[in-house]
Amino acid sequence: MLTVNHLLGIKNLTVKDIEIILETADTFKEVLSRPIKKVPSLRDITIANVFFENSTRTRLSFELAEKRLSADVINFAASGSSVKKGETLLDTVNNILAMKVDMIVMRHASPGAPHFLAKHINANIINAGDGTHEHPTQALLDAYSIREKLGGVAGKKVAIIGDIAHSRVALSNIFALQKLGAEVMVCGPSTLIPKYMKEIGVKVVHDIRTALQWCDVANVLRIQLERQQSKQFPSLREYSLYYGINKQLLESLDKQVVIMHPGPINRGVEITSDVADSGHSIILQQVENGVAVRMSVLYLLAQQGKTY
Ligand code: CP
Repeated sequence: MLTVNHLLGIKNLTVKDIEIILETADTFKEVLSRPIKKVPSLRDITIANVFFENSTRTRLSFELAEKRLSADVINFAASGSSVKKGETLLDTVNNILAMKVDMIVMRHASPGAPHFLAKHINANIINAGDGTHEHPTQALLDAYSIREKLGGVAGKKVAIIGDIAHSRVALSNIFALQKLGAEVMVCGPSTLIPKYMKEIGVKVVHDIRTALQWCDVANVLRIQLERQQSKQFPSLREYSLYYGINKQLLESLDKQVVIMHPGPINRGVEITSDVADSGHSIILQQVENGVAVRMSVLYLLAQQGKTY
């Protein structure tokens, strides 16, 4: 059993919680390798995927995970909904729950929105990304993918490279990797690295070669221009020149580095196609593992029952 009724973030999970989620994901990964990729585990559960922000991977991965577990699924996108007429978050979700929904998977632009919901509604909440705060299932699938590729997470060196300041993936990854015993470094221009990184035990460097020479795994993040209030670096061309990961740079190292990216990729900005599509990259394995990891989270939270 998990110690939580909701998955709001990695910060409030125990090491044991994370281990249970990853071990249960192993079982579901085996299910997904069968000709019939479906089990009846959540046959009596109804889940709403409530997305107030755009998504490709997370929304489809949750929907597929729910369907593989035989849950009933409804999908809500804020665009085209009565949110556009001024309906509040709480009214929107309470109306969805009135249709006998058991679990809410929510992506929202406001940090803390799922935490607010968890205090006020009668359902299990899964945070599918809240603004620049956390993206817990991304961190769990990233940890799962490192464990699968390198045989474990403890003792591994992971560099998170790029726009740390605007990334929910970065914070959730830092919490998950540290709890599992990895060393974590962040690398990027100082304008994209929050000041508190050193306080939470993360190494900070501003030189890409130093980061790549240090790490076993480089998790490359997207430059999130849509969240930047002002210009954080002179131009994308300049960012790419100093922080972009390209084949020439990787081949100049005296070691192999596993390349990850949560997507969506800005090809030619933070990573070139000859790296993203190379044997160094496990980007599509991350996406594949996301379904098994999300099946695990949904299954385990359903065992916890409702929240009050
Ligand atoms: N990794 C990720 O969250 O991608 P989407 O925004 O497409 O869901």
